[in-house]
Formats: sequence, C-alpha cells, structure tokens
Amino acid sequence: SEPENSQPSSQTPGIPTPVRTLSSDNGDRLILANKQYALSSTFVPTDLVAVDGSLSTNQGIYFKREAYDAYLNMLNDAKAQGIDFCICSTYRSYNTQSAIYNNYVANYGLEYANKISAYPGRSEHQTGWAVDITSKAMNYGLSQNFINYPEGQSINANCAEYGFKIRYLKGKEDITGYMYEPWHLRYVGVDVAKEIMAKGITLEEYLGVA
Ligand code: DAL
Ligand code: ZN
Repeated sequence: SEPENSQPSSQTPGIPTPVRTLSSDNGDRLILANKQYALSSTFVPTDLVAVDGSLSTNQGIYFKREAYDAYLNMLNDAKAQGIDFCICSTYRSYNTQSAIYNNYVANYGLEYANKISAYPGRSEHQTGWAVDITSKAMNYGLSQNFINYPEGQSINANCAEYGFKIRYLKGKEDITGYMYEPWHLRYVGVDVAKEIMAKGITLEEYLGVA
C-alpha cells in the first residue's frame, strides 16, 4: 500500500499532479497553495503564534504572526463599529487537512468534496496565511450566507485595508478550483491586497498562473 503522506498520482480523480511541491517556508507572503501548487507533508510555516482562545471557536490553533496582528487590528476596528466576528480556523497541518478532506469525501463524495475542501498538501491553510471567519449570527458555522450579514459585509469591504483578500471569489470558481467562500481570507500584505481586491482578481491571476 501507499505511504500515508504520499502525493496523489495523476490517476487521483480531481487532483492534478502538482507543478511544484514546496517543502519548506521561504517566508514569501505570496506562497501559492492550490490544486496545482502543492506543499509537502513536512511543510510547516515559520513564525506561527498561538491564537487567543477567546477569539476562536477551535482551540489551540496557530496563525502567522504578521497575519494575526493584522487580523487583530481588523477585529478591533470592527468592534469599534459594533461588529464582532471570530476565527474558526487558521493554520492547519497536512495531517489535519487530511482528516478534514477525508471526512468531506466520506460525507459528500469525491466530486463535491473537491469543490469545497483541499486535498492534503493543497490547502492554503497549511501556509499559515489563511483564516476562516465566522460569527454568532452564523451560529459559528461557515456558509455563503455570511456575505449577507454585517460581519461578512464589513470584512468584504475592509479586509484589504488590513492586508487580506477574499480568496475564493464568486464567478472565479474555474480559476480557484473552489466554490465561493466569503469566510476565507488570505493575508498577502496591504499593497497586494488592495490591488487584488480593487481588480476583483484571484491570487492565481495576480501571480500570472491562472
Ligand atoms: N476550503 C479550502 C479550499 C481548503 O480546504 O483549504
Ligand atoms: Zn478556509
């Protein structure tokens, strides 16, 4: 049988053979992790810091320090406007992603799972730069309805000011490979986030690999 952490073969349905596999964090804020660009099972981000448990639904989670600082600024500014939200998920190890993905496959089947969940080694959460955000109004769950609530609206309107972009856009599913996720933000730094959000483009388009 195959080793547990092997990358998929080209025969794995819906999972292309990666064009590159990054085995360590080079510090690049724009590290691409998607269906084509992989991270090895040993890739662990540098500069992870613990997330304050009172600010997240999942406990004992870690986030890239720079992204966490930006998130806290965004949260505190939103709170000053009467808007509150919380973290659901940030950094996920290869093995955590593997468990999540396998669970989706078991519950929804491979085709749908591949539209909403990344194969292990292909999730942006493994870079440490991604965050899923939820709120009380969402019953602390994740759904596309988030964009219709003040929390989702505020995040969509303001996240670029803090260096985040909405990563999986509506209408760009053929480029990102995933369904619209108004709750999933990717930290790319303020300058890049402002440009990307103003143009309404994906990270793939920004990097010229779409
Ligand atoms: N839901 C996103 C695509 C992930 O699993 O990384
Ligand atoms: Zn996410």
